[in-house]
Amino acid sequence: MCGIAGYIGPREAVTVVFDQITRLEYRGYDSAGVAFGTERGIAVLKKAGKLNNLGQLIENEKPAAHIAMAHSRWATHGGPTDENAHPHYDQSGRIAVIHNGIIENYYELGEALKSKGHEFRSQTDTEVAAHVIGEEYAESGQFVEAVRRAVRRLRGAFAMVVMCIDEPDKIVTVRNASPLVLGIGEGENFLASDIPALLPYTREVVIMDEGDLAVLTRNEIYLEDAEGKPKLPKKIHIDWDIEAAEKGGHEHFMIKEITEQPQSIRQCLAGRLLKDETVALPETFSINDWKRFDRVIILACGTAYHAGLLGKYVFESLLRMPVEVLYASEFRYNNPIVRANDLVIVISQSGETADTLAALRVAKEGGAKTLGIVNVVGSNIARECDAVLYTQAGPEISVASTKAYTAQAALLTLIALHMAQHRAADKEKYQRLIAELERLPDHIEACLKNNEAIVRIAEHIKDTPLIFFLGRGADAAVAMEGALKMKEIAYIPTQESPAGEMKHGPLALVTDGVVAVFGVTNPPTREKVISNIKEIKARGGTVVTVVLESDTVTPAESDYVIRIPHIDSHAIAAITSVVPLQLLAYHVARLRGCEIDQPRNLAKSVTVE
Ligand code: F6R
Repeated sequence: MCGIAGYIGPREAVTVVFDQITRLEYRGYDSAGVAFGTERGIAVLKKAGKLNNLGQLIENEKPAAHIAMAHSRWATHGGPTDENAHPHYDQSGRIAVIHNGIIENYYELGEALKSKGHEFRSQTDTEVAAHVIGEEYAESGQFVEAVRRAVRRLRGAFAMVVMCIDEPDKIVTVRNASPLVLGIGEGENFLASDIPALLPYTREVVIMDEGDLAVLTRNEIYLEDAEGKPKLPKKIHIDWDIEAAEKGGHEHFMIKEITEQPQSIRQCLAGRLLKDETVALPETFSINDWKRFDRVIILACGTAYHAGLLGKYVFESLLRMPVEVLYASEFRYNNPIVRANDLVIVISQSGETADTLAALRVAKEGGAKTLGIVNVVGSNIARECDAVLYTQAGPEISVASTKAYTAQAALLTLIALHMAQHRAADKEKYQRLIAELERLPDHIEACLKNNEAIVRIAEHIKDTPLIFFLGRGADAAVAMEGALKMKEIAYIPTQESPAGEMKHGPLALVTDGVVAVFGVTNPPTREKVISNIKEIKARGGTVVTVVLESDTVTPAESDYVIRIPHIDSHAIAAITSVVPLQLLAYHVARLRGCEIDQPRNLAKSVTVE
């Protein structure tokens, strides 16, 4: 999810690639670096912090190169430091690498290389990849072949760019699930992780397919597929303006981030959900600790709090372990009881929310172990927790959180499954949950295909004065999040609660023209929810339901139906069902002409209490 740029040609290469990564600045980053050809080999300049810091180094050095690559890093492995910034060299210093994504097996590979005497200067998975390529190069003496062979040894989702001292007229690049685009010029060629970085230079691009390897020289682009078969680069002409390109052709960052969710969930599960149906979280606590915890307290605000509510459902149903989900903004004012055997999970996308940070400090004073679920690497909350699991969802730019929420929910599910490996848990539920969690990216992909149907529903409900969001079980937790999205970006008042609570008061608000959105993803409670649907309809309300595609009963009771795949675990069905609710809020807001990415009165990172 970081920024990648590369250039070979007659222009001053470092200036070009630095400009390219500057054009990707909107994506967020925490350090940056360049590698460029010199008479003596490949030089690297890199620096933590803003791009200006790297710019200063370049200014001092004044490189005159005709081949270069640059990277802006958004940390996933190792904090945002100078050493961890890309590019990284291999053991011999003859190969330099930049990379986006995650190498899942970096730990095993790194340990094996260390036993052969390799020394690493950073904590990154990228440096391990550079050493693997270097090892293959030492053996074969062939640059391109070394990259080919090394890639076969790497597991994960990544895009990689490689330079070699001995072949100063070539850049080799490989795409494996993370985006890479090549830009075609006259006597020059470019590459980048995103189209906006190419647009000032060329509008003729080749979007690399998964598994493709490309070799760029000044006058040629050689491309081969995952099997090593050469293929003709398929050129396309881009006529978007730069702003549209930053959003990947989407109108807003929010919709871009909604559609990124299959990929962000895959990144979140990578290296944690293993092929043998176990969960590995080595960066957390000892097995004894995992056995010792007898209660979980989840602290968070806003959307992250709603993910916590889903976590409670998962923990309690799988482990029969008590879980409290508390607003971080209230925690320290409510005489919190924290004990040494508590596991306190603190959830925050930004890692900087002042209330959440304050609650974390109170929990630490109480003697509990603290575990952060954080998206921004190196943030305050990440640093202060005893252990941290990064959501690996990539930068979230839209103020309304979407992909961070699903990644937080997925990570909470992983933690519950991990705990279940070390204590009594329902085996059948474990199997169902892990199997459906693995399929979560596919389930979300299927939901995204319903976009057009959701646009039509949005057209019908966009002027309603009030929307209820209702459900039972985990659907009630998701109702909270669906409502928050609707009110924060579409400015429509909402009323959210468990469906059974309606008759205890809120039902008084139902009149003609009011809309109720029901999550109905749990067959055992379906009949009860249908009774609640009838209560709304009898009073003139319009009903939208989100149902499993196997459900033949609820659609007959609904005015509008959104189908999600049939999913055998209620928790995973509920997580999936948030995607149509995100899309509904997005389209209602768009049709109402709202300022979607920056809703009024709200900020992305809330650093005041
Ligand atoms: C809503 C939203 C907020 C945040 C909340 C906590 O879309 O984004 O409710 O979830 O401000 O922020 P983090 O997760 O950064 O602690």
